[in-house]
Amino acid sequence: MTASTSAPSGMPSLPIETRSLGERSEAMIGALASISAEPDRLTRLYLTPEHKRAAHLVGDWMRRAGMAVRMDAAGTMHGLFVADADGGSGALGVRAARRRRRLLIGSHIDTVIDAGRYDGNLGVVAGIIAVEEVQKRGIPLPFDLEVLAFGDEEGVRFPRTLFGSSTIAGVLEPAMLDLVDADSVKIGDALLAFGGDPKAAPHERYRRADVAGYLEVHIEQGPVLEAAGEPLGVVSAIASQGRYRIRVSGQAGHAGTVPMALRKDALAAAAEIVSLVEAIARKGAADSLVGTVGEFRVSPGASNVIPGSVALSLDLRAASDAARAAAAAEIKRGIGDVAAGRGLPISLDAVLEKPVAICAPQLRQAIGQAISEVTGGTPRELMSGAGHDGHAMIHLTDIGMIFVRCRGGVSHNPAEFVSVEDQGVAIEALVRTIALLGGRQI
Ligand code: GLV
Ligand code: MN
Ligand code: MN
Repeated sequence: MTASTSAPSGMPSLPIETRSLGERSEAMIGALASISAEPDRLTRLYLTPEHKRAAHLVGDWMRRAGMAVRMDAAGTMHGLFVADADGGSGALGVRAARRRRRLLIGSHIDTVIDAGRYDGNLGVVAGIIAVEEVQKRGIPLPFDLEVLAFGDEEGVRFPRTLFGSSTIAGVLEPAMLDLVDADSVKIGDALLAFGGDPKAAPHERYRRADVAGYLEVHIEQGPVLEAAGEPLGVVSAIASQGRYRIRVSGQAGHAGTVPMALRKDALAAAAEIVSLVEAIARKGAADSLVGTVGEFRVSPGASNVIPGSVALSLDLRAASDAARAAAAAEIKRGIGDVAAGRGLPISLDAVLEKPVAICAPQLRQAIGQAISEVTGGTPRELMSGAGHDGHAMIHLTDIGMIFVRCRGGVSHNPAEFVSVEDQGVAIEALVRTIALLGGRQI
């Protein structure tokens, strides 16, 4: 790469080898997808043995790509590439003594249960390949590059999310260390078993002055890009999100002897709540409001016993914090009516509330320009309904995200699919975004 990188017109002369970038990505995605808790489906939860195996594989790749690798106290893998300001090979360690800002590039390697293979993993793989390309092309950068592989974006094992990115961003709440999984294992103990260090986690926080920004490549997980016939998009913001826990306390009893009028059936009440959530969320389409009850635990859970209690989750998201708060308030009122009508107590507690995270204008602009250079079109901006590590990273630095088209908009599902070509253009756009930002001295 020549000095023309810093020209306002961007980077006209880079070779476009997007197919081979995509093939490298697909091979790495396949290797990660084989690391699972279950033989026939992909399940890789935070701080599990399979998370550790995936982290080690990612660490090996980072090392081979010329990065200095470490796992931090929260189990996040860091790969630091000390870039050369003049475009020469960024020989690792040569400048280790000199402190420069870092452009962070990351995503997550934990998955949901029975997951697709691209969610999160693509962003980590894209970051590693982008660092390789920066070196191959001799792209001069005024900042170093650090690839991050977070382990807790999905928040499936523990009730809250983003432990790793919250640690780096300095927004880890001490109470998060006491959260327990379904087997009553505390995050703090799981971290120790993993090789992390709960006591050291708060000290992992980065200083704002040391960071140039945070970039993430992620599959769209929705149908917009596919419907538009476009491979890539610029994320404008990450939606407002709340997770809540609802507990319905009824009275267990004999399914054959207690007359219907005398029952306090917790599951019948919970079913009303599910319908209520759906009805309220349906009314909020203009605010991109969505509401989901995804977990449902019935106790004692026998066919001849009236359900005594039910614990259910509620996930609520919207384009604005006000729309989500209004929906949460309406659901709370509705739950109050169900409780009063059936004469049984129902509680609703917020587990997490994350405000809208707006992507930084200058990163959106650079990403848009990079995408235009790769695809020849003007990319659309779209909001992310899905949560991302950017939700935590925004407390540290500016965030920017590239969305990649996925087939049918399907995600959190083993049918999730991103073509090799689309992976290639996404990585090419990431490399160009990095170079553009370097040329602009962000
Ligand atoms: C994670 O993918 C989430 O959006 O909850
Ligand atoms: Mn994800
Ligand atoms: Mn996900």
